[in-house]
Amino acid sequence: MPAAGVAEFQLDDEEAARRFGARLGRCLRPGDTLLLEGPVGAGKSHIARAAIRALAGAATEVPSPTFTLVQTYDGPSCEIWHADLYRLSSSVEVAELGLAEAMGRDIVLIEWPDRLGLEQPAEAIRLRLVLRGEGREAQLSGAPARLMTCLMQEARP
Ligand SMILES: Nc1ncnc2c1ncn2[C@@H]1O[C@H](COP(=O)(O)OP(=O)(O)OP(=O)(O)O)[C@@H](O)[C@H]1O
Ligand SMILES: [Mg+2]
Repeated sequence: MPAAGVAEFQLDDEEAARRFGARLGRCLRPGDTLLLEGPVGAGKSHIARAAIRALAGAATEVPSPTFTLVQTYDGPSCEIWHADLYRLSSSVEVAELGLAEAMGRDIVLIEWPDRLGLEQPAEAIRLRLVLRGEGREAQLSGAPARLMTCLMQEARP
């Protein structure tokens, strides 16, 4: 049984995950923060890449920001921020990255958001990726009704 307010999506392979990421990307709006959770290799960057390409253009190079911590892209109506905080060493660094200013203004995608500690935004949308055999299950929570409606519409053929 899914917990209250959690929507589950079965992503059986990379292609299903890519399509879901693109759908999610098309539904994100300025001010949305998406926290991507799950173990190493869960597919957080894969989903983020598909979402960013849906917003910034299909040919956009989206490297994993493992070492740079943050990459930014020009979206149709705001900047898109992609952060991977796995290697974050201190909260001072979070401040230097400019993420706090971006959250609530731009579209912000964050891998390893637990590294933010208490600075995790309460309003954020959470996507937890769980390994299911060869594929993944995506558990979406904290999504506003507007986003859920958009996701359902985007799913139609
Ligand atoms: N739904 C899926 N089914 C099968 N394989 C997938 C799925 N989603 C992603 N993968 C594959 O899993 C691998 C790891 O993906 P990815 O790099 O996105 O993980 P990550 O969660 O960002 O890891 P890290 O914590 O190291 O940043 C990639 O080879 C990717 O293609
Ligand atoms: Mg990653």
